[in-house]
This record gives sequence, structure tokens and C-alpha cells, in this order.
Amino acid sequence: MNQPALSTSRQRQLPPDWVPGEFPLRNAWLPVSNSRHVGSRPTWRTLHSRPVFLWRQQGKLTATEFHPAKLSDKRQAASEFTAGSGYYPVLERYGLVWVWYGNPDDAHESLVPNVPYIPAEGGLPAYMSGHLHLNSCAELAMENLLDLTHSDFVHANLIGDEISEQDEITVDTTSETITMVRTCRGKTAAPIMQKAGGIKAKTQDLRSTIHIYVRSHVALVYSRFIPGFDVPLLHCSTPESRNSCRVNFIMNTGAAKAPFRYVMPQAGYMVGAQDNSMLRPQAPRYHEQIERRDLNSRFDAATTQYRHLVQQLTARQQQGDFAYGSDANISGDKTALLRIGMPI
Ligand SMILES: [Fe+2]
Repeated sequence: MNQPALSTSRQRQLPPDWVPGEFPLRNAWLPVSNSRHVGSRPTWRTLHSRPVFLWRQQGKLTATEFHPAKLSDKRQAASEFTAGSGYYPVLERYGLVWVWYGNPDDAHESLVPNVPYIPAEGGLPAYMSGHLHLNSCAELAMENLLDLTHSDFVHANLIGDEISEQDEITVDTTSETITMVRTCRGKTAAPIMQKAGGIKAKTQDLRSTIHIYVRSHVALVYSRFIPGFDVPLLHCSTPESRNSCRVNFIMNTGAAKAPFRYVMPQAGYMVGAQDNSMLRPQAPRYHEQIERRDLNSRFDAATTQYRHLVQQLTARQQQGDFAYGSDANISGDKTALLRIGMPI
């Protein structure tokens, strides 16, 4: 049946369309590289269409706007992101290199997102981490994580289909984070756990908690399967441009049974390819002048609230307010929030 056309007055009431990826949020630590990929020889990454050169100078991690060989010649062209010095604030945490994107005077370690299931000093085995590229901005990649209507279908061959006896969702936000908890009972068992983890059961209980640090485009994804294993994933979608992001991921499967422990992190590449097949055609459409209808449903509560948070942060930053609210709790321990070790 055809939907009734919106009246002109109703159309006027709609807020302007949000175009994700158009406004780079500032004053945040962004994970640009796995630590083990940065050595004494300069390498580089792209951050919001700006080059970031990375290397270790006599062991000291360094991040600059220009290649080290040209740094002294080009320093006069250095931007506000390095306060004219050419050097970005940079640090290492959880086996990743984090660069501060914003005013260097505001860079503090207390604003590095907390990841309770990865050692702060890094050092997890290489098989637990990887990186891939998505042809979408970071915001769409984050939305994709929160989108319940896709995972059971697009990734069904890995984590199981949409069938369960019970499926509940809660969503909570602060001014800087969003947390979605999905609790399923009697869900079709994840095929990858049956094939690589020795799980014989046909159904599992699942609690999956996703906690997103909005400014950093960093997501903690902690899933507990019973019977089965915990899958603690750190998923970063670092913006390279308005239509691409680099996903650095670390999955600490050290407590899981072999070969699942080794297979599951590498399945991230299959998941990434499946996600990108959806995101790649979507992303450029946000830049087209087309008539859009709001087709979100009650299943989109998390993504709708995520968009709202991004828009609020964007509006504040457009007015010159880059401060973190008192409720932000960026570096506080998130063990309890993720329900680590708690029964489902
Ligand atoms: Fe996905």
C-alpha cells in the first residue's frame, strides 16, 4: 500500500538531514595504528584527510604533520593541530598508537578511552589484532555496529541467525558515550563457536554490550555466549576521510578454547568485508541531494540516539565548545558497565 504523502507543513517541521562525516569532531585521542607497525623507519596514516607520520626516534614514539626529512623546511606550514610545531601529541595504550586530534594544549592522558579487557601496556599476541578499511565515514561504521537489523542477517554464517526465544535491548547515553546492551535467550548458536569452539548446543544465551566513545570513534564490544566463550573486541573506526575509515581491531580471545581463540579474531576480516559490501554503496548517497524519508523504526533506538549525540557534540564544537562534560568518564574503569564476569 502506498504511504500517504507528507504534508508541506509536516515536511517543514523535519530537522535538516544529517550528513555523517561532514564535521570532524575535535579534542579526542584517535587510534591511528597498531603499535607494532611503527618502528624507526617513518610510516604514515591519514587522519581526517591530513597525513600523520609516525616513527620511533631513538625509541621515542613521534607523530608529525610532515615527513621527518622535510620537517624543518615545512614547519612554517604547520597547522593548529600541532600548535605550529609540526608535532602531534601522541601516546601508546592497549597496543595502539593514539594521536590527539584538536588543540594540543587540551591533550591529557585522562581522555584516553578505557578498555578494561586489554592490557594498558599492550603486548597481546599478533593473531588477536588486525586492520581493514571501510568505504564509509567513521560515524556510519559506528552506526553499523549498533544496527541490530543487520548483524543476524549479514553475519549469520558466523554468529548465528535472528531466531531466539527472547531478545531485549537497552540503550544508555552520556554526553560522550552510548551503551547498548542486547540480551538474548535461546538464540541460534553461533556457527563459528560450533565449528571452532566445540560447542554442541543448538542454542546459546548471549549478552552483547557495545560501549562507544563518540569523539574517538572507538567501540568496546563485549559479548558473552553461554555455553561458549567471551569475545572481547576493541573496534576502532578511525576517520581517514569523509568516505573512508581505518578499522584497527583487537580481540582478546586468550581465555577461549583453541582453535576458536585463533580463528575468531581473523574472522574480523570476513565481517569487515560483509559490512563494507553494505556501507560502500550507502556512504556516497548522503552527499547527494535526494528526497529522503525518515524510515527508522523502534529497532533503531541505538542508532537514532547515536546520531543525536553526534549532532549535539557537533553543535557544541561549532560554537567553540570543546570541553568534556562532567558525566563523560572517558578513562574510568568500564568493567562493571560491560558486565564482565557477570551471569547473563
Ligand atoms: Fe556488521
